[in-house]
Amino acid sequence: MTRKFYITTPIYYPNDIPHIGHAYTTIAADVLARWNKLIGKDVFFLTGTDEHGKKMENIAKENKKGTKEFVDELIPKFKDAWKKLNIDYNFFIRTTDLAHEKVVKEVLKKVYDNKDIYLGQYEGYYCTGCEAYYTEKDLVGGCCPIHKRKIELLKEESYFFKLSKYQKKLLDFYEKNPEFILPKNRSKEIINRVKEGLNDLSISRTSFDWGIKLPFNEKHIAYVWFDALLNYYSATRVKGKEKFWPADLHLIGKDIIWFHTVYWPAMLMSAGIELPKTVFAHGWWTFNNEKISKSRGKVINVDELISIAGVDSARYFLFRNTVFGEDGDFSEQALIDRHNNELANKLGNLVSRVSSLIEKNGIEKCENKLLKKLRLKEIEKLFDSFEFDKILNEIFAFVDICNEYVQNKKPWETKDKKVLYELADSIKAIAILLYPFIPSTSENIAKQFCFEIKLESIKKPLNEKSKIIKGDILFTKI
Ligand code: MSP
Repeated sequence: MTRKFYITTPIYYPNDIPHIGHAYTTIAADVLARWNKLIGKDVFFLTGTDEHGKKMENIAKENKKGTKEFVDELIPKFKDAWKKLNIDYNFFIRTTDLAHEKVVKEVLKKVYDNKDIYLGQYEGYYCTGCEAYYTEKDLVGGCCPIHKRKIELLKEESYFFKLSKYQKKLLDFYEKNPEFILPKNRSKEIINRVKEGLNDLSISRTSFDWGIKLPFNEKHIAYVWFDALLNYYSATRVKGKEKFWPADLHLIGKDIIWFHTVYWPAMLMSAGIELPKTVFAHGWWTFNNEKISKSRGKVINVDELISIAGVDSARYFLFRNTVFGEDGDFSEQALIDRHNNELANKLGNLVSRVSSLIEKNGIEKCENKLLKKLRLKEIEKLFDSFEFDKILNEIFAFVDICNEYVQNKKPWETKDKKVLYELADSIKAIAILLYPFIPSTSENIAKQFCFEIKLESIKKPLNEKSKIIKGDILFTKI
């Protein structure tokens, strides 16, 4: 039976065009989706947009537009950015989709019938930028700790979700499922906070109406996070997609880990729905050590990112330069250096030298001893632990080995067809393993060297009848 793999990105607020932060999670999901397809899994890759809530309503007003009209104009910008970045998602969900709204109402009703929702009065802080509640001790000088802006004090009738009731159940769950919150250091932080106690969660508002009405009281609009988190589940409540629930992996940024590892599993427990397997929180990209975000001034949007050195170089750089899970400081020069030194000099040169020598001299099939130096098992393990930088290190260590082999064997003098065969067969392995990261480059190499991008093809010797040609330059130096 084919195993399934269901992976999600956060659904983004369509309040502006997507930037490097959004691109980072989405490319990471694309890398893992492509890898899981390579290893033969039935993959469902979901992304989309989080369109309700006061924040979206306010931004639309600032732009003198109706909220739906405003978000409708931004959705193509997201889809377009993902297309440019070669993101091969399976479904794009919008929280304004009627099918999603129906599921949110159904789950709210279940939780309500389960007596986990009660009517009360919310009195406390709320940051619309974060769409999050804060207590006095979270604030920094009376301001939101993220946006550093004055925070709103709310006082209104609200329905509450009995989050406090789930404290023990959540702690038990974390203990039994050590892979639920990754990386491990973040898991400790969450567990410690949950141990300190959980307040019930205000899950409805009455002071605006851009959102989903509570099925048991239409005066109330569902809290945007209650609505948004359910996208992961509602996307599978479609004919043919049910088999994908529970999600195997929610990829998110570290800023939204609390919502995903506390509210989300508690909501599902209350509704009697199976829980996702893993939530992995990556770090933030900073620019001069400041978070990249529109509200804080510095943004690198997707077009800018691509314009530096092309799509594949951008995709490569984001995972090569920093540990996935930790913060990284963005530098255009560092991207250009990686592009020049690794993609153009090491990979590009290897492919172009070997293919032009083969075009002239041909190949002769033999055992590829060189391939024994590729640590394939290690790379497979590293994919399981999301250690992208190390995967790329391993692959490029092998690229170095191949380049040294060319230097030592001097096939331009010897015209040794067996050496050229070994090199071509090794380039095949390299291109297949790099495919999740730089898919269009790998596809070009595959066309040039006549093989199929499949994991089995790594071990299947290259057909010596292949008509290998010297193709176009893969990476032009900047
Ligand atoms: N709408 C919510 C998510 C709901 S998921 C049920 C949201 N949207 S967002 O558009 O503000 O951000 C989405 C993601 O982008 C977050 O995971 C966040 O961490 C990520 N990034 C935004 N800026 C970032 C960086 N500068 N660096 C890395 N990722 C960051 O939150």
